[in-house]
Amino acid sequence: MRVRRVVCPGSFDPVTNGHLDIICRAALLHDEVLVVVGANRAKLGMFTVDERVAMLKEVTGELSNVSVGTFRGLLVDYCRAQGVTAIVKGLRAVSDFEYEMEMAQMNYRLAEVETLFLTANPLYSFLRSSLVREIAAYGGNVSSLVPPVVEAQLRAKLTSPGQGAEPGR
Ligand code: PNS
Repeated sequence: MRVRRVVCPGSFDPVTNGHLDIICRAALLHDEVLVVVGANRAKLGMFTVDERVAMLKEVTGELSNVSVGTFRGLLVDYCRAQGVTAIVKGLRAVSDFEYEMEMAQMNYRLAEVETLFLTANPLYSFLRSSLVREIAAYGGNVSSLVPPVVEAQLRAKLTSPGQGAEPGR
């Protein structure tokens, strides 16, 4: 079966230039890309699910075959409900491999949902959302790591009363 529609899942707390690179490349390879924010553990993060979705919508706004949504529960159940047979994920470095391999094999075993890996652009192989949150929290410059709208949201979040970066994954 040809893979026309794919799901590109993640926490996206917040979306980085590395995520965006993978989403753009997935959108060139497939007819339709559903970018989905996992809402199971979102309360532990820095941004709410709605905020993450809003940022993703803004930065993917010009990609006509990309939509943004959320899912709760098992990713394979979401895929099944949407009639999607493959997940696209980015692979940054060897350190990602074990975790991603485990999830990919389990998702196939649970529901025969395939996982397609795109290797990260070397420019972004060191980049993850938790590092961005930490750098921003300590006043570092994240302008080359995230889209401008995300940089602005980080600044707003970190300067509003009672807010702070939560390290974590
Ligand atoms: O940004 P991340 O940490 O790579 O996102 C991970 C995510 C949300 C894709 C993953 O945790 C996930 O799929 N969660 C849903 C629950 C699930 O299906 N767990 C079983 C995986 S085998």
